[in-house]
Amino acid sequence: MGSVDSVRTTTGWAARDASGLLSPFRFPLRNIGVEDVYIKVICCGICHTDIHQAKNDLGISRYPMVPGHEVVGEVLEVGSGVSKFKVGEVVGVGFIVGCCRACNPCESDEEQYCKKKIWTYNDVYTDGKPTQGGFSAAMVVDQKFVVKIPDGMDPEQAAPLLCAGLTVYSPLKHFGLSRSGLRGGILGLGGVGHMGVQIAKAMGHHVTVISSSDKKREEALAHLGADGYLVSSDASRMNELAGSLDYILDTVPAFHPLEPSLGLLKLNGRLIVLGVVNTPLQFMSPVLMSGRKSITGSSIGSIKEVEELMLFYKEKGLTSQIETIKMEYVNEAFRRLEKNDVRYRFVIDIAGSKLDQ
Ligand SMILES: NC(=O)c1ccc[n+]([C@@H]2O[C@H](COP(=O)([O-])OP(=O)(O)OC[C@H]3O[C@@H](n4cnc5c(N)ncnc54)[C@H](OP(=O)(O)O)[C@@H]3O)[C@@H](O)[C@H]2O)c1
Ligand SMILES: [Zn+2]
Ligand SMILES: [Zn+2]
Repeated sequence: MGSVDSVRTTTGWAARDASGLLSPFRFPLRNIGVEDVYIKVICCGICHTDIHQAKNDLGISRYPMVPGHEVVGEVLEVGSGVSKFKVGEVVGVGFIVGCCRACNPCESDEEQYCKKKIWTYNDVYTDGKPTQGGFSAAMVVDQKFVVKIPDGMDPEQAAPLLCAGLTVYSPLKHFGLSRSGLRGGILGLGGVGHMGVQIAKAMGHHVTVISSSDKKREEALAHLGADGYLVSSDASRMNELAGSLDYILDTVPAFHPLEPSLGLLKLNGRLIVLGVVNTPLQFMSPVLMSGRKSITGSSIGSIKEVEELMLFYKEKGLTSQIETIKMEYVNEAFRRLEKNDVRYRFVIDIAGSKLDQ
């Protein structure tokens, strides 16, 4: 992992161009500043956003790029001003590693909406160097953006909470949708969606999965605890359930019509768009007006919320459905994730992949 007297370096797996293919890449880590935590990465989840970024779906990618924003690791060293963490503790890092600390969102603990936030990777740090994510053996991160993983929680279980879980927890809390008794829909049963089913159920909701196929019906109902399952192309069932949902969490990562979802919402219902789609989404206005419905979006969540979610998840006894892989399998994992062939989150066993040897 590099020596202390020279520049520390580490190895990650980086995309080099928009093919999104990852391969080993050695890069420098910054010196440990007063507020920094030096983390040996144990594992890292694979989010569909990692594919959008590696393949330049949004036209903002810089290479070489080491993805990964569901990072769990062990603290190896801390800066002199670090009070939150001790060496040996297990911690997590999500999708941001910096913010301005002075704007309205920063002052109201919603730093994910800070205009000067720094993404964990595919961004530039305050020292002018590129940020690199958790598909790497080690990271240096400001303590403000590091969260404690509760004692006894398996690192691989905790990883998907840092993005997938938080992405559903945050809007449910923010929009006043965390009280029990609501009827919710989860559109797209993938990494984010499967956490959505479990978190919404744990909040006491009646949860319907709305999927593009019938393939996940049994798993959704029997294993994840969903109350209902709808195939979005089944027009007659969609009609039967029209006007029945308080909200829908839309996690689909590709173009899809919004009207079928809007039709399922009750008066004042909310369609919360979470998927990253790089083409315009469409709907006819009467379907929105006739039920005073709203379409909104939400971006991951705050550090405060992820700390809350860790405790919620532990207290409710939830479990992420994961497939653990080694780093060498990551390109195949990307291919399978794109083909909708994972139940439901890949987590890379980074420590077991021995990147630095
Ligand atoms: N807003 C945020 O802050 C945030 C945070 C994390 C991720 N995201 C974004 O959310 C999206 C989902 O991420 P993820 O990691 O959960 O991805 P994922 O595991 O691939 O899940 C997406 C699910 O959507 C459905 N789907 C996939 N392709 C589809 C298509 N062409 N048409 C209709 N349905 C399709 C599939 O479910 P079914 O088989 O049930 O149809 C799939 O399992 C991505 O765009 C990601 O970038 C956003
Ligand atoms: Zn993510
Ligand atoms: Zn700010």
